[in-house]
Amino acid sequence: MADLNISGVKKLYDGKQVLHGIDIAIQDGAFVVIVGPSGCGKSTLLRMIAGLEDISEGDIAIGGQVVNDIDPAGRGCAMVFQNYALYPHMTVRENMAYPLKIARLPRTERDRRVAEAAAILDLTPYLDRRPAQLSGGQRQRVAMGRAIVREPQVFLFDEPLSNLDAKLRVTMRIEIRRLHRRLNATSIFVTHDQVEAMTLADMLVVMNGGHVEQMGTPVEIYRRPASTFVAGFLGAPAMNLMPARVQGGRVVLEGAGGHALTVPGLAIPEGTAFTLGVRPEEIEVARSAPLMAQVDLVEELGGSRIAWVAAAGQELAVMLPRDLADTPVSRLGLVLPAGALHAFDLASGKRIALTLAEAAASQRAAVAVA
Ligand SMILES: Nc1ncnc2c1ncn2[C@@H]1O[C@H](COP(=O)(O)OP(=O)(O)O)[C@@H](O)[C@H]1O
Ligand SMILES: [Mg+2]
Repeated sequence: MADLNISGVKKLYDGKQVLHGIDIAIQDGAFVVIVGPSGCGKSTLLRMIAGLEDISEGDIAIGGQVVNDIDPAGRGCAMVFQNYALYPHMTVRENMAYPLKIARLPRTERDRRVAEAAAILDLTPYLDRRPAQLSGGQRQRVAMGRAIVREPQVFLFDEPLSNLDAKLRVTMRIEIRRLHRRLNATSIFVTHDQVEAMTLADMLVVMNGGHVEQMGTPVEIYRRPASTFVAGFLGAPAMNLMPARVQGGRVVLEGAGGHALTVPGLAIPEGTAFTLGVRPEEIEVARSAPLMAQVDLVEELGGSRIAWVAAAGQELAVMLPRDLADTPVSRLGLVLPAGALHAFDLASGKRIALTLAEAAASQRAAVAVA
């Protein structure tokens, strides 16, 4: 087990830069999830940690030792891939023992480690089967077993659940978390799936276009997204974002309605145009309110319903409360509570303090970091 430090890491492919200076400090034993859209550089970063890609600039250190020039075998990382990468002609036992055979471990030690990993992963009854005789979930467990037997310092997972059906993905997600609780090894898990990211991570890293957008616990990031990108990426449906302006000391929603919200301790200067954000589940719904919305579509999720509504010239997603869940609705009154509002700079998309209290809190946080 080891901590992992990524500092100033850049990657260029034939002069085209795909990672623009990544800094991530990971504590020993942490479960870190890197989430971001396809093509943002997640696999590239993971492969650089494993030693499968060279580092154009910057350093990667594992357990305090810079590993830039150490070959993959010497880094103590084990990687689990999306496509399992099992050998079809080998049994489960042989597949799991293979990296140990390559490393020339004695037979008895190989057998011991395979038996132990198989027991952890409930694979003992299947050790003599070939991959074709296993279900998708069992194959993914074999791929994890092959990583576990190496007793790595760091586990690297590259979208390992993406090929599984929805139900199995949930089961495997929980198994991976249990496995981490048991082995306590530093783990980096890459995914483009925001639910997977939120549920698995101790620490979440949101990436976009070769940059880190935000790092923190899932709850911190969900509650205080650092940019419109993060606000729109985490949460289903995503945070509602709408153009707004400070006018007469109030927040005015632009568009047809021109609805004004009173925000106590408003910190944004008069006349400033900005992007206002509010999550679908934070909007309060009433039969009647100063802001009325026309319901366009209701999505049934079984336990809850999402209404897509038009209000103040905007399309908004609103989570319908349980007591409304069975009544058909065509018009709704909406209340956007001041405490549930987020503000972002119009040009950069970066979070700005909406209230004086938030400005003071972020100033305190900045001082604490410095
Ligand atoms: N071997 C390569 N040569 C050139 N460009 C590459 C190579 N591998 C990845 N890229 C590019 O680097 C960017 C990041 O890719 P990748 O790390 O695979 O993203 P992700 O895993 O987040 O989907 C993409 O624009 C991709 O086209
Ligand atoms: Mg990838």
